[in-house]
Parts: sequence; structure tokens; C-alpha cells
Amino acid sequence: MVVTHQGFFDAPLAEIDPAMGDIVARELTRQQTHIELIASENLASRAVMQAQGSIITNKTVEGYPGKRYHGGAAVVDEMERLGIARAKELFGCAYANLQPHSGSQANQTVLHTLLKPGDRILSMDLSAGGHLSHGAQVNQTGRFYDVAHYGVRRQDGLIDMDEVAKRAIAHQPQMIIAGGSSYPRVIDFAAFRAIANEVGARLLVDMAHIAGLIAGRAHPSPVPHADVVTTTTTKTLRGARGGLIVSNDEDLGKRIDSSLFPGVQGSAHLQIMAGKTVCLGEALRPEFRDYAAAVVAHAQVMATTLLERGYDVVTGGTDTHLLLLDLRRQDLKGNAACDRLEAAGITSNKNAVPFDDQKPWVTSGLRLASSSATTRGLGPDDFRRLAGLTADVLDEMAAGGGLDGPAVSATRAAVSEICAQHPIYPNSIVTET
Ligand SMILES: Cc1ncc(COP(=O)(O)O)c(C=O)c1O
Repeated sequence: MVVTHQGFFDAPLAEIDPAMGDIVARELTRQQTHIELIASENLASRAVMQAQGSIITNKTVEGYPGKRYHGGAAVVDEMERLGIARAKELFGCAYANLQPHSGSQANQTVLHTLLKPGDRILSMDLSAGGHLSHGAQVNQTGRFYDVAHYGVRRQDGLIDMDEVAKRAIAHQPQMIIAGGSSYPRVIDFAAFRAIANEVGARLLVDMAHIAGLIAGRAHPSPVPHADVVTTTTTKTLRGARGGLIVSNDEDLGKRIDSSLFPGVQGSAHLQIMAGKTVCLGEALRPEFRDYAAAVVAHAQVMATTLLERGYDVVTGGTDTHLLLLDLRRQDLKGNAACDRLEAAGITSNKNAVPFDDQKPWVTSGLRLASSSATTRGLGPDDFRRLAGLTADVLDEMAAGGGLDGPAVSATRAAVSEICAQHPIYPNSIVTET
């Protein structure tokens, strides 16, 4: 029997599946008309999305270039080699693996390579800004390994390296993990290395949030200090959604390769690898350095403006793309503040602050970042204005104002104006990608 489906190879999404076409179109409208301040988001280029949405999705491979379990792999072998070469050049390292489906699976792979179940890990506490995949109790990594945590100092929100050393000596970990999802300051990677050496532990640095800043030379690199470094390729790196592992230790790299496949994952997501390869190429261009420098400068403008308006910024500022507002002085909750800002056109996320006594789905904090709006073309004056508008909305809320308050509607209007001045993808992208 011959089976044909009309339009299968050439009709656009909106025609074949109007319900999904409508969802994509409405999400595009949301992205066009809101300012995105979520630290883990960014706007991928059209080229990244074209590669990611390409016919490469049809190819299946397991294994690595030149050593595949499926035929027809010569072209995608070339792609994976290209992506690996770009990652090595970008991060100045000897080894890269582009296959992790996500940042969590990159971390899982490294743990699976270097540890046995029951081995000890020392990592940053989730409540202080760590990540679930670093051994949080609710995560599988918290079940498989014996995990102790370090946090930040109560008085200044900074990692106390003497405290890390003390905990490392007490816990005797086989692995120390540095890096997290809401720590706004440069981490002293050399000091982590020294502590790891002292207790005979491996050092994993998770640079998921700051990878783009490191690639753009706006932040020190952990690569010379860590045994292995993991990242996501979204966030500041501005690429396809996925993970990446890099290291200077090629022998360890061989072990990571065979631990990722067949140990943690099956076939590679080649279409995502295509998007990652494009994004790594973009990050190698000189203009990416300007982008990374602007991201940090813009986050600092927001932090300064909010401090001037009487808001507590954890650690008193930022060295990265993100800042963490502590709303306890204003007696506001993170979830309610996030909802109110969204009504005003500003998208952020609630976030626990160090020593928060609110539950994780409530929180006393807001995490804001400059990475996505900088991609959109906003400059320092726009960020100053945005931070002022954020303060207006939060002030109104703290004073008991409702959703229909003047600060919410004035901010909504200002955001519309900024969005119109800095357009993103055209509507036609819904049918063209
Ligand atoms: C520091 C850090 N590591 C790992 C991850 C996990 O990445 P993924 O969501 O791709 O699993 C994140 C996610 O936001 C992160 O912030």
C-alpha cells in the first residue's frame, strides 16, 4: 500500500496543525511584547533556530564521529567534529562533548564518570544559589551520593572560602562542585582548586549561567582550574537548548565520552547539536565580546538603580548578568512580585534569597538579568529606565496598590514603547523556520 499525506513535506505548521500554529504565534507575540529579565533565558538567533529546526532531526546516531552504530553518519560526523572544534577554541580547552541533552545530564554524566554510588560530594546549597543537579535532596544526585553543602555568608551573601575549606576537610569529598544558578559574583575558581587538592577531590565547575560571559571574555574562566566544566548552551551563551562538557584532561574526556553514551544517554539529539554548533560559531565572532561586556554593564546599571531606589541587592551588586533582589525590607513575596511585574510587561522569576524563610514557590526574592534584553538591543539608558519602572511597580505594590495601579499601567505602556523600538523576530518566522 502506498501511503501519502498531503502537505507532509511542504505545508507549514499553521496549516497542518492550526492548534499548535496558534500556540507558537501567541508565544511569539508574548516574546515580542514583553521584556525578558529571566537569567536562564535569551533570544536565539534565527540561524540557531533554523539549524535546530532543520532536517537534521531525521538522523539517528549513537556513539561518536567515526565510531557510530548507524550508517549514513558521514555528514553529521562532520557537524559534530565542527561543533567540538568550536567549543575547544571558544573555551581554550583540549576536550569537548556536545552531546548532553541538558545541563542536568551534563552534570549527571560527570558524576557518573568520576564517582561511585555513595561517594561524597561538597556543593553549594540550593537555597544559597546552587543547582538541583549538584546533589539536592529532591534530585537523583542527592539520592545516589553522600552530599554536604556550603552556603554563603549571612552578612554579605558571598561564598566564604574558609568555610568551604572547613567543610571539605570535615566531609572529605571525592568531588567538589562550584557554580550555581543565582550567585551574582565571580567565584574564586583557583581557591576551589586549592581546596580540592588539599582533600584529594576532583573539581567540577558548572558554568551554565556564565558560559557566555566566559566565552566573551567578560568573566574569568574556570577551565584552567577545574578537572571538568559543564554548561548549558542557552542562557548567556544564547544558543540551542542543551548541554556541553569541556575539560583540559583528554584522558578524562575519553572516560566522559563512554560514560555519557552508553552510560547516561542513548542517541544524540543531532538537530540540537546543529543549533549548538551555530551558537558556538556566533560566540567566536568578535562582536560576541561586545555583547558579553554589555550584558555585565547592563546588569550593573540595574543593580545600581535598584539600590538607589532602596532595594536590597544580594552582595550589593553583580559581576555577571544576574542580580538577586531581596524583598524582605519591602515585605514583599517573590511570587507576588513576579506576577505583578509580568502584568506590567516585565518577565522575571521568583527566587529564594540566602537564609530565606519562605517556601521555594513563594520566596522573598526576585532574580533579574540583562542577557536577553541586551540581545534585543537595549542599551544602558533602557536598563536604567527598566530598573526604575521595576522599582515603581514594586513600590506601588508595597504601598498596597493593586493590579490596576498607575505604576502598572505606566510600566506596561513604557515596555510597549521599548519593545517597539527594539523589535525581535518578524511574525513570518512562525511559518518560515
Ligand atoms: C547552574 C545550572 N546548572 C545546570 C542547569 C540545568 O540545566 P538544564 O535545565 O538544561 O537541565 C541549570 C539550569 O538552569 C543551572 O542553572
